[in-house]
Amino acid sequence: MIEWEEIENNLRKTLSGHRFQHSVGVSVTAEDLAKRFGADPVQARLAGLLHDCARDMSNNHLLQSAETFGIVVDTVLRRVPELLHAPVGAQLVRERYKISDPAVCQAIARHTVGAKDMSVLDMVIYLADCIEPGRDFLGVHELRRLAAVDLWAAMVKAYDQSIIYIIQQGGLVHPATIEGRNALLLGIR
Ligand SMILES: [Fe+2]
Ligand SMILES: [Fe+2]
Repeated sequence: MIEWEEIENNLRKTLSGHRFQHSVGVSVTAEDLAKRFGADPVQARLAGLLHDCARDMSNNHLLQSAETFGIVVDTVLRRVPELLHAPVGAQLVRERYKISDPAVCQAIARHTVGAKDMSVLDMVIYLADCIEPGRDFLGVHELRRLAAVDLWAAMVKAYDQSIIYIIQQGGLVHPATIEGRNALLLGIR
């Protein structure tokens, strides 16, 4: 694994200033959430910093990278290639940043659409991405309030908000998001 400072320098070069600030915000928020809900704060801080490392790649580049890395591109991902920044980012974290921790890579891979069997770390990164201090959208205060007390409720609300937003935009909801929400409501952990 490369040093923290080197990771930050690398991200500063590959991300816009706004995106870099967001990544730092997610890192700090994820560390707090991890301490609150019993995930590893070191893994959370690292996954938070790196979660959007592929976010500023073009759609074509994401699709090409997905093919190179053997990532399955389903019909929704093909229509909404920016969602691929999560699994492509996880692979970059392995290859470019030499981070082999599967829990960190999995949390990064799952931070856009979620999954039906999210670990506590996965949920911490997903939520930190939604509520870091730079985020400002209708419903963020409610999400922050829930994230201070109840990981499960915050996560259900985050899925709800995401699904409602996508529907309002006339977009495609990825099946993993529906499966993730259903799994929480059904008590599948
Ligand atoms: Fe992202
Ligand atoms: Fe993000």
